[in-house]
Amino acid sequence: MITLDHVDKTIGELPVLEAVSLRVRKGQFVCLVGPSGCGKTTLLKCIAGLRTYQGEIRIDERLSQGVNPMIGYVFQEFSLFPFLTVGGNMEFGLKIQKVPRKERNDIVRSLIDLFLLQGFETAYPHELSGGMQKKVAIARALATDPEILLMDEPFVSLDAQTRNMLQKELLRIWQKTHKTILFVTHNVDEAVFLADKVMVLTRRPATIKSEFPIDLERERDRTSSEFVSVRKEILRELEEEYVEQVDKGYKGI
Ligand SMILES: Nc1ncnc2c1ncn2[C@@H]1O[C@H](COP(=O)(O)OP(=O)(O)O)[C@@H](O)[C@H]1O
Ligand SMILES: [Mg+2]
Repeated sequence: MITLDHVDKTIGELPVLEAVSLRVRKGQFVCLVGPSGCGKTTLLKCIAGLRTYQGEIRIDERLSQGVNPMIGYVFQEFSLFPFLTVGGNMEFGLKIQKVPRKERNDIVRSLIDLFLLQGFETAYPHELSGGMQKKVAIARALATDPEILLMDEPFVSLDAQTRNMLQKELLRIWQKTHKTILFVTHNVDEAVFLADKVMVLTRRPATIKSEFPIDLERERDRTSSEFVSVRKEILRELEEEYVEQVDKGYKGI
């Protein structure tokens, strides 16, 4: 569903992505982990058609050209519209696509049910908990029914309990909707809990360092020996990237 072949990206003089090649199959849940500042957000933005790049990106076999309606995006920076209700936020993209009101209402109702947000349709973002706000942001990205969901560290600012709860919710929604998900995180525990495959990125300029298929049955037990052992392996890979930065006197993240 998503294929990258030798994608390079330079911002000004700064090489950010270098020969990134990867593949995400239809319906797969893939996590990308990498050191902060390595180029993860840039990579997602290239895939979403929001940045130019060199190399080839294919979405569902077709060369990607600009913004693609097959892709929903949950941004890293917080992005609910404070002046719109939960329902208003969810239907925002549908309004832009000029979907008729009746159909919009039906979609919002089914998203409210899917995300267990009954009773909050007319609430404003500031009236919701952080976890609920994240759910609305994900629901909004799914409203136009994209095949692919790109998620950029969506749970980063939440407490551990809320984060774990949302990871389970996201898996439930993924299993129900069969979306293809590419999820960026720097939290290895989160990646191993969620993904069919974890890809580790190097420090900037980011390239794929290694891939770990995660074949553990869901719902995964974070304390099982298999979970702990793959988590350790990935952490070791990731920590090398930080160590080498220090060795080379690298200062700028
Ligand atoms: N618009 C931009 N202008 C200049 N530098 C940028 C811009 N966007 C990203 N960068 C730089 O590119 C590098 C990678 O950024 P980013 O993709 O946001 O990393 P990550 O998401 O992995 O933390 C960083 O060093 C950042 O400073
Ligand atoms: Mg980022």
